[in-house]
Amino acid sequence: MNDSQPKAQRPELKTEIPGPKSRALRAREDAHMAPGLQGFALMAGIVVDEARGSTVTDVDGNSFLDFIGGIGVNGLGHSHPKYVEAVQRQVAKASVGSFTSESRVELLERLAAHAPAKKLRRLQMYSGGTEAVESAMRLAKCHTGKHEFVSFWGGFHGKTMGTLSLNGTTLKEHLGPMLPGHHQIPYADCYRCPLKLESPSCGVACVEFGRRHLKAQSAGSIAAIVVEPMQGTAGNLVPPREFLPAVASLAKDLGALLIADEMITGFGRTGTFWGIDHSGVEPDIVTIGKMFGGGFPVSGLLTTDEISSAKPWSNPSGSSSSYGGNPLASAAAAAALRIIDEEQLVENSRVVGETLLAALRPFVDRYPFVGEVRGAGLFLSIELVRDKRTKEPLSKAATTRIFHECLRRGLLTMAYAASFRLQPALTLDEATALAGVEILREVFDLVEKERLWA
Ligand SMILES: Cc1ncc(COP(=O)(O)O)c(C=O)c1O
Repeated sequence: MNDSQPKAQRPELKTEIPGPKSRALRAREDAHMAPGLQGFALMAGIVVDEARGSTVTDVDGNSFLDFIGGIGVNGLGHSHPKYVEAVQRQVAKASVGSFTSESRVELLERLAAHAPAKKLRRLQMYSGGTEAVESAMRLAKCHTGKHEFVSFWGGFHGKTMGTLSLNGTTLKEHLGPMLPGHHQIPYADCYRCPLKLESPSCGVACVEFGRRHLKAQSAGSIAAIVVEPMQGTAGNLVPPREFLPAVASLAKDLGALLIADEMITGFGRTGTFWGIDHSGVEPDIVTIGKMFGGGFPVSGLLTTDEISSAKPWSNPSGSSSSYGGNPLASAAAAAALRIIDEEQLVENSRVVGETLLAALRPFVDRYPFVGEVRGAGLFLSIELVRDKRTKEPLSKAATTRIFHECLRRGLLTMAYAASFRLQPALTLDEATALAGVEILREVFDLVEKERLWA
């Protein structure tokens, strides 16, 4: 069972936040660090000293509960002892190069045992999520001989040129032109349905809308549809069960591959091993990263024998990279998989996720500014709104205040966005989870008292 990480963790605050040592180090960093780091790190202003399980301790000795989890990277809990031991052992033996290693063989076999579909047993490895999705796009082109791509409103797949063109977000602004032949269609964002319909009576009309859009817009050469089984960056959206099967059948009708981007939903995050497990859909390519490496920067794609043999992707050096699948990355990912299995972290994600959901759902009735609480496993979200009827998002000033009030009480959150995402470590125990909810309750009471939402 999951007994390697500390339980019933609590925040412990010793100084004002950020404390004097953090402030001094941040000032030195700010002198040289380029802008553009992740928002919560900039806003928190703390400097990390060490982290264990679900807590992060700063250089001033303050410990925080971590409900951000590296935005879905921290599956094993910080500094999991078995993981630390495995990475240390490998780095002392060999870390660089693409020769076969025992670690890579172990990883391949362990991953094959969890293949999202029996046919998906070919792995190629990279070091970042966007790189894996780019490779999936190249592979889809090689296999189909087509060049167009379909993705979704609100979708996020990375920040390099190919994935930027897939994104359905404002991240593209000022970076055009995007790649030609990219089409975006609506995702099943049922809380704010773009078609103003209700699920399930809508019959996933968003996919039908997409079908018509493509009929009018596509040059008839669609290589793949790229979809997140549940959308992360858009606000941890959980689509209805019918959505992915409808997308899969659209891909089939278009003669296109289906690429499931499981970067954030894979490895137990949503309470099942893969995000697609909730739908029964079998994609042609699955892209993986984040929790895959247990914190080590390693990503990859899984596909079939047939698709992976497409040329030139399959030529020697055709799909490789400098770091992909080196002994250290392989040892880290193999250890992460071993720990997920041995400590039943997928099941823990489901059980503790249900506890968190049950504790958070009453917030919708209790607070005038909580529009919805949703989630699957430890992939959760709270919609913060100015008005429950119009669903207008809570103002930036109010969400920023919530972020800082949580921080001051020792809880690290992504509350600075109105679609407030929570994705703690999969090793989270119920007592620690409920300690975090208690802090949220205190902060939300304050928001209500001060009428910050109005
Ligand atoms: C679904 C999805 N795909 C791809 C990426 C890009 O991963 P990376 O930041 O490692 O490039 C992300 C990152 O958040 C993601 O959530």
